[in-house]
Amino acid sequence: MTIDLKELEEKVSNEIKTAKSSSDLDEIRKTYLGKASELVAAKKQIGSLPAEERKSFGQTLNEVKNRISAATDAKQSELSLGERAIQLESERMDLTESISNPKVGHTHIVTQAWEELEDVFVGMGFRVAEGPEVETDWYNFDALNIPPSHPARDGFDTIYVNYGEKDSTVLRTHTSPVQIRTMQNQEPPIYIVAPGRVFRRDTADATHMPVFHQIEGLVIDKGISMADLAGTIEAFTTSYFGEGFSSRLRPNHFPFTEPSAEFDIQMPDGKWLELGGCGMVHPNVLKAGGIDPQKWSGFAFGFGIDRLALMKFGISDLRELFTNDMRFLSQF
Ligand code: PHE
Repeated sequence: MTIDLKELEEKVSNEIKTAKSSSDLDEIRKTYLGKASELVAAKKQIGSLPAEERKSFGQTLNEVKNRISAATDAKQSELSLGERAIQLESERMDLTESISNPKVGHTHIVTQAWEELEDVFVGMGFRVAEGPEVETDWYNFDALNIPPSHPARDGFDTIYVNYGEKDSTVLRTHTSPVQIRTMQNQEPPIYIVAPGRVFRRDTADATHMPVFHQIEGLVIDKGISMADLAGTIEAFTTSYFGEGFSSRLRPNHFPFTEPSAEFDIQMPDGKWLELGGCGMVHPNVLKAGGIDPQKWSGFAFGFGIDRLALMKFGISDLRELFTNDMRFLSQF
């Protein structure tokens, strides 16, 4: 037997002590404990030893092997701690990085238009009001002078909610129910605008979406006339669109206003853009809101926000606004 176990153990211990990394230790394990190691070779030769030496040599060999193995493991855990610390340090997130190269988002184009409209009307002395998106048929229709049999109900392509009595709960088809809620909650004079989301059973195409946005306006005061309505629309037009834009009213019909009109905006190139509906608040609507039509009068208007945003940014398809494609949205 040519192997000196004592000498081997000393040599290995030294190497273990000076090992600097897990890979050093892997190397040591391979060399001294692996298949091609001296220890394994020596074990195979035990059979050729004189019978009386076999047992004690075998025992010592096993002990040496176990000690080397234990020493390697102990060193391994010691090194691992240090290596983990180094790794953690190298992977530490430098949060200042994201500040030095920030990707800043912005509000959606519809939100931008919505907020600009609020600003313009607040600047003209209006207050911002709101109401629920899920409405009763009374607020959405009856109170607005559209009784159950009225043909205008069909015209709205209403989405009904399966709640309460059949057809009694709707997703509001327009922002006009906020007129009634405001009248019920506030004594005149009333000067409010109510922007919000509305719903209709429409198939999405370039100019329609089943969910869209409107802004409602309501003024109730003493001696309000059609001239105040026309003046307000005109003041809004120049202040929102700018100089060079003007407005006109065209006769129309809505159940909740009388007389009623459609209002258009003329752009500097002379073209007319149909914007929305308006009119003098119908006496039945004032009554539904708890306001005495003998004492007070007022006007209301309502128009779509989404189409304004389209026009402002020169977008041709309404659907583009809601597919939420970052490549599209981040242009604005
Ligand atoms: N609510 C009407 C619509 O959605 C618009 C409108 C509002 C008309 C107020 C007149 C007065 O079409």
